[in-house]
Amino acid sequence: MDLHESIQLVHASEMVFGERFYQQLAAKHPEVTPFFAGVNMHRQAIIFTMQLAVVGAYYQRHSPTSQQYLQVLGTQHHRRGIPKEAYAIFRDCLLDELRQFHGDDWSDELEQQWRAAMDEVTHKMWEGYEERFHV
Ligand code: HEM
Repeated sequence: MDLHESIQLVHASEMVFGERFYQQLAAKHPEVTPFFAGVNMHRQAIIFTMQLAVVGAYYQRHSPTSQQYLQVLGTQHHRRGIPKEAYAIFRDCLLDELRQFHGDDWSDELEQQWRAAMDEVTHKMWEGYEERFHV
C-alpha cells in the first residue's frame, strides 16, 4: 500500500478519521488543547480528514495552488499562535493513528511516505510564518 491508497481507505471509512485523531491528540498531549479553545471539533475533524487529500496531492505534485494554499494555512496557524514545536507532536500522533487504522497493512515504507509528506507540508506551512500570506 502507498500513501495514496492509504488516503483512499481513510476516506472510504464510515468513521471520520479526524475524530479519533483529535481525541488522541488531546489525550496524549493536553498541552496543545488550549489552542483549540472555541473550535468546533466536529467540523475540524471533518476538515482535517479531507485535508489529508491535500497532503497527498502536495506530496505528489507540489502544484502552485497547493503551495499557495499551504502558505495561507501556515499564516492562519501563525496568527493563532501555534508554535512550530507543536508540529512534530501533531505529525507523530497522526502516524500513530494511521498505524492503528491500517493494522497489519501498515509498513515501514508507508510510514516513511506519510512522515515525508507531513514534513514537506509542514515546511511549506512555515513559509506562512516567515511572510504573511493573505487571501
Ligand atoms: C501539517 C500540520 C497541520 C495541518 C495540515 C493542519 C491543517 C489544518 C486545517 C485544514 C485547518 C482548518 C482551516 C480552516 O478552517 O479553514 C486547521 C485549523 C486549525 N489547526 Fe491545524 N494543521 C496542522 C497543524 C496544526 C498544529 C500543530 C496545531 C496545534 C497543535 C493546529 C491547530 C489548529 C487549530 C487550533 C485550528 C482551528 C483554526 C480555527 O478554526 O480558527 N494545527 N488546521
